[in-house]
Amino acid sequence: MADSKTTTAVADTNESQIAVHWKEEATYKPSAKFVAQANLTDPSVNERFAEKNFPQCFEEYADMLTWYKRWDKVLDTNDPPFWKWFVGGKINASYNCVDRNLEKYKNKAALICVGEPEDEDPVTITYQELYVRVNEFAALLRDFAGLKAGDRVTIHMPMVAELPITMLACARLGVIHSVVFGGFSGEACGLRAADSGSNVLIYMDGYYRSGKMIDHKAAAELAVAASEKEGQTIDKILVWRRHPGKYCSATPMVKGRDFFVDEILGNYRGKRVDPVPMDAEAPLFLMYTSGTTGKPKGCQHRTGGYLAYVTGTSKYIQDIHPTDVYWCMADIGWITGHSYIVYGPLALAATSVIYEGVPTYPDAGRVWRIAERLDVNIFHTSPTAIRMLRKAGPEEPKKYHYHFKHMTTVGEPIEPAVWQWYYHEVGKGEAVIVDTWWQTENGGFLCSTKPAIDQMKPGSAGPGVPGIYPVIYDEEGKEVPAGSGRAGNICIRNPWPGIFQTIWGDRERFVRQYYSKYTKNKQSKDWRDWPYFAADGAVLAKDGYFRILGRVDDVINVAGHRLGTKELESACLTVAEVAEAAVVPVVDEVKGRVPEIYIALKPGYAPTKEITDRVIATIETMIGKIARPRQVHIVPDMPKTRSGKIMRRVLAAISNTLDTGDITTLANPDIVEQIRQHVQGKEKVAVKEGPEDLKQFGKEE
Ligand code: PRX
Repeated sequence: MADSKTTTAVADTNESQIAVHWKEEATYKPSAKFVAQANLTDPSVNERFAEKNFPQCFEEYADMLTWYKRWDKVLDTNDPPFWKWFVGGKINASYNCVDRNLEKYKNKAALICVGEPEDEDPVTITYQELYVRVNEFAALLRDFAGLKAGDRVTIHMPMVAELPITMLACARLGVIHSVVFGGFSGEACGLRAADSGSNVLIYMDGYYRSGKMIDHKAAAELAVAASEKEGQTIDKILVWRRHPGKYCSATPMVKGRDFFVDEILGNYRGKRVDPVPMDAEAPLFLMYTSGTTGKPKGCQHRTGGYLAYVTGTSKYIQDIHPTDVYWCMADIGWITGHSYIVYGPLALAATSVIYEGVPTYPDAGRVWRIAERLDVNIFHTSPTAIRMLRKAGPEEPKKYHYHFKHMTTVGEPIEPAVWQWYYHEVGKGEAVIVDTWWQTENGGFLCSTKPAIDQMKPGSAGPGVPGIYPVIYDEEGKEVPAGSGRAGNICIRNPWPGIFQTIWGDRERFVRQYYSKYTKNKQSKDWRDWPYFAADGAVLAKDGYFRILGRVDDVINVAGHRLGTKELESACLTVAEVAEAAVVPVVDEVKGRVPEIYIALKPGYAPTKEITDRVIATIETMIGKIARPRQVHIVPDMPKTRSGKIMRRVLAAISNTLDTGDITTLANPDIVEQIRQHVQGKEKVAVKEGPEDLKQFGKEE
């Protein structure tokens, strides 16, 4: 392992030169019991998905689906990096997740929906019932809302059965759904609706969270206003009711624009809608995510390749069988929920559990009671949730009689100590763990162990999953070798069927952001010349396992959710008194990272708590509560370079009690000590050694 470096060296060191020193963890083997029942036990998978068999290897996933017409070509590279998969194939995602399961499994639970109030019994929806509801709602979307293939519709809903029903009804018609996370604000929803060109919104009136009914329809009004401001009119809002027949919101319905779904659905009882055979390359959905600019980007996912990829990885990595009761605690409003609550599990005829509420409501045992009651055997969640459950009730899991065979962690790096608790306490030493690394853009897993074949290593995601060939490059594009102990930028050398097609409406940004950094030859039509840049730092151990360190760009990973610092800064700048804003990540024991904000006021304004409160309120209104900063610091000036750029790196160091590094090149070096005293107090505090992503943060500036 290379020598350790101090944080002071970071200012003039790029990430590929930074030594990463961590203890090699002992590995764990999957149990014989797990292996005996696993879908993927044959090590020949490595050979089947080896580079020499690329791209044909991915036919193994596409063959898990039912196609109207088989593809003519597996991968078309004619317009790089706009790869096309299973070209010429015709398929419908709704058919594959619903209709085709009827023959064998119509009477089996497709979804089990658990409301937050514990006195509400879980609601089971069989595949037959799902088929009926998806058809009826598809008829309503087509005949009442006038939607057809290629139209976009924006869905802003909580974790209820009606959400996957809505998505699958859209997919049945070829309507492109854009689900916005329920916890995002109405305004955030409206901006996304406008960007996608939706004129129909789908809402739910309210939902339960921490024991309270949230008035969610209120958000719809803000969404309409925000969308109008962007020039996009919303014609219709379809409102599902949490309790059909009883409106749970105080927000009035607008005549001629807002409609209760349960009232109009009666007109479509018993209606059947033939699934529309879609081109494999037709977009299935948009999923907005944060990037390095103020504007979220709509990741456009294709139908055939995406569905093949999530089905294949659900079968091999999630080890889903139709007999399993599978519970992914993510929200369907994020990519994890799309791929691994809805599309992948249902395409495999699994039983997928949906929980409406907060994991620790009403107490720290809730999750384990649900697992016990439903006899869940595959569990999927994030390190933040694991940390939260561990903190709230470290002894709780052993009180309940559930048995997981398989557990997933996703969304953030997991500390080995947290992994150990997950393994020994939650998994009771019986369950295999997969640490899956991937992103909204990717459709499905990129790195993970194959649960019955590979050993687990706490804190490491593992090798590339079948057919994914990751590599670490330094800033110059040179490969950082395995076992060097040096960090670099993880890239994927090849295309795969789950990769998104483009950023909705912004091809140029797609190429710039993901491909231009390491493209060797922009004229080349050979995929080998177009590595995908993931914007994550990583280290590759000798054994071929990748350890993901975190983002190398301006994105903060808060509780496993991506927030762009520029988005937050733009929101701050809408507050009249604010002249400048800088957002930095701060280490949080439970959520991984949380944002902290620095603002400088326009001349003539004095700092007040009222301004700070207004900044926080503005962020909650424009983005949502998940973006709430830990603190807002009003500072006399920002540390700046001579060319006037704010040095966020210095602010991040102050917020996290790290070494501020070399500040002699600043235009105003004296401000650093003033800000430090403002944040940390007069006394000098001993600086700490920071985690890798914080050392990287703002380095480019
Ligand atoms: O930094 C990586 C982190 O989450 C980012 C992607 O976030 P998002 O698009 O919201 O998708 C989250 C769920 C797929 C990545 O760039 N990340 C994701 N999974 C892991 C991870 N970091 C470490 N380990 C993981 N398993």
